Amino acid sequence: MADTARLEELVIAVRRGTRYRTIHEDLIRRVGARELEKRSSFKEAVKTTRSKLHQIGGAYLESGASFDGWRDKLADLPPSATDPLVLKFCRQAMAQHASTRERIPILEEFFHQVLAPLGEIHSVLDLACGLNPLALAWMPLADDVVYHACDIYQDMLDFVSQFLSHCGVENHISMCDLSVACPPQTVQVAFLLKTIPCLEQLDKSIGLRLLDDISAEHLLVSFPARSLGGRAKGMVQNYENHFNQLVAGRGWEIQRFEYSTELAFLVSR
Ligand SMILES: C[S@@+](CC[C@H](N)C(=O)[O-])C[C@H]1O[C@@H](n2cnc3c(N)ncnc32)[C@H](O)[C@@H]1O
Repeated sequence: MADTARLEELVIAVRRGTRYRTIHEDLIRRVGARELEKRSSFKEAVKTTRSKLHQIGGAYLESGASFDGWRDKLADLPPSATDPLVLKFCRQAMAQHASTRERIPILEEFFHQVLAPLGEIHSVLDLACGLNPLALAWMPLADDVVYHACDIYQDMLDFVSQFLSHCGVENHISMCDLSVACPPQTVQVAFLLKTIPCLEQLDKSIGLRLLDDISAEHLLVSFPARSLGGRAKGMVQNYENHFNQLVAGRGWEIQRFEYSTELAFLVSR
């Protein structure tokens, strides 16, 4: 085990970097403890901890993305998710996170097609949400929907919560480390969008565990159709094989949807 004082020192050192300041502290601690065990040099352990955290989170965020600035802009907009000014704002804000940016070209059809079999949706749990809750207006949600979401960046989650409240949506937004535990809420549909490959960088067995732990009637699971660097070769087939292994033998009903930037599965159980 890493020495506690050394570990706390590492957490402080990692958080000195602007992009690491608002990350879930327990996640920094868990990644840092492993790196301290593996590296003989403290400085090296700080560097590799940051690098791991960058791979699973920071790499998706535009450099210089300031959620305070977005929160100020939002405060001046009409309080309706479908207002044209709010829709424009959402598209611009979603472009700050690589995952939602890739979804913008398919937004008009994605949620309406993949969630069509469920009818109107009354509760959502958006796991490792990124900025996906800003796609609210493009989802087939009931007026009384309750939106739960979690991720590892406090400033991003504050912005997401402000957005949902601004649009009059009841929301429960929290920090989570999915490699440790899944939020316990029971919902109609849980989103696990493009997240399994990201979390597998922390824990190879996480996919199986998460699918078992999520308390939802339906799961919308997706995978990227290309890498962050833009390469697409064989990715769809590889992720489809991987997903099929994860759900093998469970007897769940599964519908498959393929788009230019995303491969999605609607799982009903
Ligand atoms: C590929 S992005 C997907 C974002 C969103 N689901 C979407 O499709 O637009 C992966 C997300 O996982 C989050 N993340 C990384 N590690 C996590 C962890 N241990 N627990 C919860 N979220 C995590 C990142 O911050 C990032 O927002």
